[in-house]
Amino acid sequence: MATASNKPGLIRRMWRALMSPSARWSVFTLLLMGLIVGLVGTVGTQVMVHATGTNQFCGTACHSMQWVAAEHKKSTHGANRYGVGASCSDCHIPHAYPGKLWYKTKAGVKDAIAESRGVIGTEALFKKERKRMAEHVWAEFRENDSANCRTCHVFTPEALALQKGGPRKDHQNRFAEKKTCIDCHKGVAHEEPAE
Ligand code: HEC
Ligand code: HEC
Ligand code: HEC
Repeated sequence: MATASNKPGLIRRMWRALMSPSARWSVFTLLLMGLIVGLVGTVGTQVMVHATGTNQFCGTACHSMQWVAAEHKKSTHGANRYGVGASCSDCHIPHAYPGKLWYKTKAGVKDAIAESRGVIGTEALFKKERKRMAEHVWAEFRENDSANCRTCHVFTPEALALQKGGPRKDHQNRFAEKKTCIDCHKGVAHEEPAE
């Protein structure tokens, strides 16, 4: 005789229902449902990565990014006569998966918190903090040997031959000197913060 007390609890009943084979759906239907969920997830991720990787998003979604965005617009990487520029994400976000997703998630959470706390909410605060932020960016470029610069700038022997003697020598010697692009080229998209 069953009493209310030995009826299995809600969690246990849900677990049993989850673990028992489906009586209603065919294996084919279940597979199809899995495929659709997977597809929506994959396409959805790509759409989000794209939507949050534009200059429009990075430069205007957060009030705090307006000052760097305005400087970028005026820099060689923002506008030049060849019409080939570099976007925020070209320089700041890793290009390879899964590192790209991990970086975007971390940066998104950190930036959302900082934005809501107004860490660099005014131009004065931004000026005060920019040196610290720039040092963080420089450290990233040093760590990965300026990988994002190199997705566009590839110094083949042919490219080096077209450069003037000064930069050509620097570019040829840099491995011996253990230097990377950012060691010699700071402030290529924004004003370099004063020491
Ligand atoms: C998306 C491609 C792209 C990326 C990424 C990129 N660049 Fe450039 N860069 C260009 C193009 C295109 C030009 C040529 C602009 C011109 O000559 O008007 C240029 C020009 C330059 C110049 C010479 C013009 C100047 O500003 O005096 C330097 C130096 C330079 N880049 C360094 C870098 C460094 C350092 C990085 C990484 C922090 C980087 N670039 C990342 C595309 C890129
Ligand atoms: C040891 C210092 C040094 C390193 C490291 C270095 N550069 Fe340069 N680069 C120079 C100098 C000096 C010039 C000439 C002056 C200038 O344009 O700033 C130059 C010029 C350039 C130019 C313009 C070329 C031209 O002929 O007008 C580009 C683009 C550039 N560098 C990109 C890079 C990239 C990308 C890296 C990393 C792969 C890099 N540099 C690493 C010192 C360096
Ligand atoms: C050509 C590569 C490049 C592009 C394009 C670029 N940045 Fe940067 N960014 C850098 C580098 C390098 C630094 C480190 C400071 C420096 O050397 O100017 C930096 C620094 C920063 C900083 C720290 C504050 C500071 O001024 O140093 C912020 C915030 C930033 N970038 C946001 C952006 C946003 C937003 C965009 C697009 C509107 C963008 N960046 C486009 C290379 C780039």
